[in-house]
Amino acid sequence: MKSQPSKSKYHFSTLLVHAGEEPDSQTGSIAPVLVRSKTFSQNIFGEEGEYQYSRGKNPTRVKLEEKLAILEGGGQASVFGSGVAAEAALFLTLSPGDQLFCCQEIYGGTYRLLSELLNRFGIVSRFVNFNNEKEICAAVTPQTKYLWVETPTNPSLHVIDFSLVARVSKQLSIPFVVDSTFAPPCSTRPFEYGAETVIHSLSKYIAGHNDVLGGAVITKNPGLHERLVFMQKTLGAVLSPDECYRVLQGVKTLTLRWRWVSESALCVSRFLVTHRKVKRVLYPGLISHPGHVIAKRQSREGFGGVLSFELREHRLEKLKCFVDVLRKTSPIIYGESLASPETIISYPALMSHKSLPQEVRRSLGISDSFFRLSLGFEDPKDIIFGFTSALNAI
Ligand SMILES: Cc1ncc(COP(=O)(O)O)c(C=O)c1O
Repeated sequence: MKSQPSKSKYHFSTLLVHAGEEPDSQTGSIAPVLVRSKTFSQNIFGEEGEYQYSRGKNPTRVKLEEKLAILEGGGQASVFGSGVAAEAALFLTLSPGDQLFCCQEIYGGTYRLLSELLNRFGIVSRFVNFNNEKEICAAVTPQTKYLWVETPTNPSLHVIDFSLVARVSKQLSIPFVVDSTFAPPCSTRPFEYGAETVIHSLSKYIAGHNDVLGGAVITKNPGLHERLVFMQKTLGAVLSPDECYRVLQGVKTLTLRWRWVSESALCVSRFLVTHRKVKRVLYPGLISHPGHVIAKRQSREGFGGVLSFELREHRLEKLKCFVDVLRKTSPIIYGESLASPETIISYPALMSHKSLPQEVRRSLGISDSFFRLSLGFEDPKDIIFGFTSALNAI
């Protein structure tokens, strides 16, 4: 093994490539070793070997978990079969009667999990304004176990101020958890602000190639980590070794991808914001965005590849025409999800946020003219060309 300076001293892009990885001691393989074995031979009767059965522990999964914890800047990671599975595992460490305080806008799947499943097991979720310290302090009860923050939020890209949440968390002794799916660690590391636990949908920026569904919980609370390891074994919603492998490979280019999509998103936002048929554009990189200053403070490398916008047009047939022309005149794909090599336009009212009752969606400003755009690695000029054509057509 090559002697190296302490790896934790490496810069982030170097860590993306090297953290938790060494050439394989037997073969010299540089790509991670993929161990698909479900079962592991036990050498000594009555003694448990390190690996027994892959639902409990698998070497490729361990490699990914170690890497994610290093990238996040500490703690211990456990990975699951999707972002929602990671959230479910965390929520299931709570007990009936426990409360969760969430920011007002969260991913629709998280909302569904809380409001249509976990509520039946007595886990209570409340939605509060995380820009208002007094409101949070007045609403907490002894049953409030976590402050749950998603930032920037899906789909409106609201930015939550970590320094405010950290202050409240400290004052009330309630840990804060961050769903950092929209701000991967090349940009934002919530542990630096005092978060106890960070969640990622690995399916997005971290894996980055539209071929993985996965989720991770990284926590600085060793007791919580132990319970999450129990959840892996007991719920069984773990990430397969093949998918762990793809995340290990995909994450190496995170910073490169993030920089590219951040530039593209800024470029497309600037185009859209001046267009007369566009009512508003939500992108934290725009100076006009209400969370711009906080986003600038909290993000290291650009503002990410996702923006949202609302058209002035609201007639459904015109919106359909807009999407059809966009698809015909550009590489843009109409579909769910984000952070892929391909630019994807989605329609939250019928996709990611369909589970929200209409009045909640409306109160959040997710109207029927509201679209979310996730920039891929294409040349933004081709994307802007598509928008020019599609906006002219309506
Ligand atoms: C902010 C956020 N958190 C969690 C999830 C859930 O992740 P997954 O789709 O991997 O279950 C998503 C999915 O879009 C998301 O946008």
